Amino acid sequence: MPHATTTSSDPALFADRRDRFLHRLGGAAAVIPAAPLVTHHADVEHPFRQNSDFWYLTGFDEPGAVALFLPHNPENPFVLFVAPKEASAEVWNGFRWGCEGAVERFGADLAHPIAELAERLPGYLEGAEGIAFRVGRHPAVEPLVLKAWGSQLDRAPRSGRAALGLVAPCSLLHELRLRKSPEELARMREAARISAEAHELARQVVRPGLNERQVQAVIEQHFLEQGARGTAYGSIVAGGDNACVLHYTSNNAPLRDGDLLLIDAGCSLNDYYNGDITRTFPINGRFSGEQRALYELVLAAQEAAVEAVAPGQTAEGVHDTAVRVLVAGLVDLGLLAGAVDGIIEQGAYRHLYMHRTGHWLGLDVHDVGAYRLGEHHVELEEGMVLTVEPGLYVSDRLPVPEGQPAIEERWKGIGIRIEDDVAVTDRGHENLTASALKAPAAMER
Ligand code: GLY
Ligand code: MN
Ligand code: MN
Repeated sequence: MPHATTTSSDPALFADRRDRFLHRLGGAAAVIPAAPLVTHHADVEHPFRQNSDFWYLTGFDEPGAVALFLPHNPENPFVLFVAPKEASAEVWNGFRWGCEGAVERFGADLAHPIAELAERLPGYLEGAEGIAFRVGRHPAVEPLVLKAWGSQLDRAPRSGRAALGLVAPCSLLHELRLRKSPEELARMREAARISAEAHELARQVVRPGLNERQVQAVIEQHFLEQGARGTAYGSIVAGGDNACVLHYTSNNAPLRDGDLLLIDAGCSLNDYYNGDITRTFPINGRFSGEQRALYELVLAAQEAAVEAVAPGQTAEGVHDTAVRVLVAGLVDLGLLAGAVDGIIEQGAYRHLYMHRTGHWLGLDVHDVGAYRLGEHHVELEEGMVLTVEPGLYVSDRLPVPEGQPAIEERWKGIGIRIEDDVAVTDRGHENLTASALKAPAAMER
């Protein structure tokens, strides 16, 4: 295989997605750019990460490309502009498919060098009823789209036709991405398997005195050994109080005897499907009384929330389920005071649980798709995948709300989250990450 990051995904799957997207566009033409290379520092770039919308429709894994979807042009509805083959560029930066590859391997009806986009775009957009393009995201392509539309409008009095408006492709495309096909679910099971194995391996090596980063290395080594592209997001390996920093990624502190370790890590496959798992366990192999009490509470909330995942339910309902269990348990433990309903209504638990219980998961870790449409919460349907990840974070960082008890020292520095990836099935759900153990006994040694 000439290109290391190419996957074996069946081109027919991408063709089927394009057909459905073209159908949804009605008479509007869509312009979907690939991601650019992003500078890390000086002239060094980050590893390339394709735009998930572009990937979903093309499977083409190079920067500097633009895809056109032209329902008003039924002979050639899928046009790719790509970096052309060029020996010297390929010596420095690697293989390119070029225009020929774009047609033969990726199913483009026509392909052109990207340098011809400015000249050819107006012609391709001619006759479209609208232009679907995400403004504000693609600074290199946006002026070309606006200029082409502007000149159509200039000519409209005499030509008699111009695109009526610029529309966002998001809802059309993201509603497709939100519902995973059986083939996508198979890929997500693979991302979940590798991610879960890494958590199991990490727990076995952890002991007091190791550095967080050494545990990160074990996890990320497994991702790469298993053929993943790398991490889905910056791994969080957070000992003790560091776990109360939700986006902790410095991962450079020694692991202390008596603390918990929170690990939030998942792999990203070559075709970008992601795992997203959190586990929390005692560094020395034994929960303290306070740690166990809070761990069992988070686990109860997480299991209740996972059980709430089923067709016809909502992400909001899953969140509410977790919050109710957490708040009731915190009242029992004396960390909150008052009636459960009142505490929930006032949000008087948010100094201990300040994030949502989950998010859609797919090609993006925080995947696309609406959670609500106006006042209406989107109902879960077979094929949707979401994370379920309640937690508790006991620290001094946020003020205790008025009327709530001060936090005793013995609870402080405990941060716990438990996160699984859950697919909605026809009758209920499938926990994709169940092989990462989470029972309290399994967390001890
Ligand atoms: N690791 C990112 C998240 O859990 O949402
Ligand atoms: Mn996570
Ligand atoms: Mn998550």
